[in-house]
Amino acid sequence: MKPLWLVYIKFADGVTNIFSPLSQPAQEIKESSILVLAVCGVIFIVVAGLLLYAIVRFRHRAGDEVSEPPQVYGSNQIELAWTILPLLIVLVLIMVTSRTIADIQNRKPPPTAVHATVIGHQWWWEIRYPEFGIVTANELHVPASDGHGSRPTFLKLQSADVAHSFWVPQLAGKTDLIPNRENLMWIEPTKPGVYRGNCAEYCGTQHARMLIRVVVHPQDEFERWVKQQQESASADTNAPKGRTVFFANSCVNCHTIRGTSAQGKFGPDLTHLMSRETLAAGAAPNTPDSLRQWIRDPQKSKVGCLMPNMQLTDDQVDQVVAYLQTLK
Ligand code: CUA
Repeated sequence: MKPLWLVYIKFADGVTNIFSPLSQPAQEIKESSILVLAVCGVIFIVVAGLLLYAIVRFRHRAGDEVSEPPQVYGSNQIELAWTILPLLIVLVLIMVTSRTIADIQNRKPPPTAVHATVIGHQWWWEIRYPEFGIVTANELHVPASDGHGSRPTFLKLQSADVAHSFWVPQLAGKTDLIPNRENLMWIEPTKPGVYRGNCAEYCGTQHARMLIRVVVHPQDEFERWVKQQQESASADTNAPKGRTVFFANSCVNCHTIRGTSAQGKFGPDLTHLMSRETLAAGAAPNTPDSLRQWIRDPQKSKVGCLMPNMQLTDDQVDQVVAYLQTLK
């Protein structure tokens, strides 16, 4: 068995650890939670200590007379102490958390901010950048606030069906995506890298596999990513057979491939499918093999998902995979 401290270190190292924040709201939330933990820790030690003291000091000993200890009724001092002290503690906690909440909620987007809309679906994330004309899925790309200045990303959160919750612990607290309303949040990561998160509100069978990746780029690299994503898919393809299969089936009813007649809005935009690291909201790595399995029978890879088995032959599956692989 692993010693506990090793398990702890592994936990503390984890990318979904709220105690190693790398973005502004998460940093502030961590500071508040440490304070709350410290206050609760002190209270626990005092209460448990007094209890232990009473248990040991006043336990029954041989030769003790069996009688009630002296009974004390009413003490203004004690009553006042245990009313006022907790009130003060709660007051401090209220003030600290309100300040943190206000700081986070009142942040106004600077002119350099990136704006994105995240729409929760059963069970994937649609990500839109209206100002850039980009639509993608499951992987939110944002710039880092590095040496080139502050460049936070402001998110509008919406839902296409049921309640979901966007949570990337190292970047910010969780915020729900509620049908028929719009919630707002922002992140300002300082360090490039890939940050992982989950849907944090139970939303149905595949809630556990509704994973988020936030890819934080240095600012110049982010600009390149935007340029690349703005391109439409080319009309010529070196996988014409797969293209024919894709367009002859109902794939086009749900998926968009910009620059083609596929304009479905129900499923993820596939224009740059190959630029993503995972398939099916993090359920599988984006490799030709898992893509093949996914298209052959999505219900096997992610039971209950809304993509049907298209009953393609093995050849057709290979052809469609070849076509999808041209969507870089
Ligand atoms: Cu979406 Cu849980």
